[in-house]
Amino acid sequence: MGKIVIAIDGQSGCGKSSTAKAVAKNLGYTYLDSGAMYRAVTFYYLQNPFDLEDSNAVSEALENVEIEFKKDPVSGDQLTFLNGKNVESEIRQMEVSNNVSKVASIKLVRQAMVAKQRKLGSAKGVVMDGRDIGSVVFPDAGLKMFMTADLETRAKRRLKELSAEGNVYSLDEIKNNLAKRDELDSSREESPLIKTADAVELDTSELKFEDQVDIVIDLARERIEKEESYASNN
Ligand code: DC
Repeated sequence: MGKIVIAIDGQSGCGKSSTAKAVAKNLGYTYLDSGAMYRAVTFYYLQNPFDLEDSNAVSEALENVEIEFKKDPVSGDQLTFLNGKNVESEIRQMEVSNNVSKVASIKLVRQAMVAKQRKLGSAKGVVMDGRDIGSVVFPDAGLKMFMTADLETRAKRRLKELSAEGNVYSLDEIKNNLAKRDELDSSREESPLIKTADAVELDTSELKFEDQVDIVIDLARERIEKEESYASNN
């Protein structure tokens, strides 16, 4: 089967990652969580604070940040490593969520992460989720999805996820975090969250998880077939 890049962008907590993961599994593609990179830089920043306004300090910090993805040998899930240490669980904590939009709005941080994302996606056969994947990282992606869901639904889903991992947060706390990140991520100057004209919008508020995954898989298969027939005719 042919290989394309699938970009899945959208608001915080609308199910991008779980959808992207399931789509990648079905197609035999690699799943890449671009948000994990911004979270890893944020985790580094919280442990080794530096002046976010000072470009020299930001550049110096970025030189000390080595992000790698490895596969969990049991589940096959993506694990995020920061400077050789598995930080997958740490980067999902609320302290990181509450600071990540600020860190992700810095131009130098974005430039470094985008370069890494392009490298990782260069072989195609990749599903990447984030905020600017279809608009900036892979403007030529074979399929671009823009996912949304209403705030209440997103907060409830996130609460369930975090509780299952043993974290205790209130629904209001999660709602506030999601709403604040939506606002910051959509209004920032550098690569704001936007729906590009060629992206397919998918509101998942009323959808069952399996159905939203099937919609993306069907669209992806359509695009892959199109690319294959184009390639064989040229
Ligand atoms: O996907 P996520 O919620 O784990 O992402 C965490 C934050 O990282 C999100 O609030 C904004 C930022 N982000 C970004 O600016 N660009 C991306 N491509 C992915 C995430």
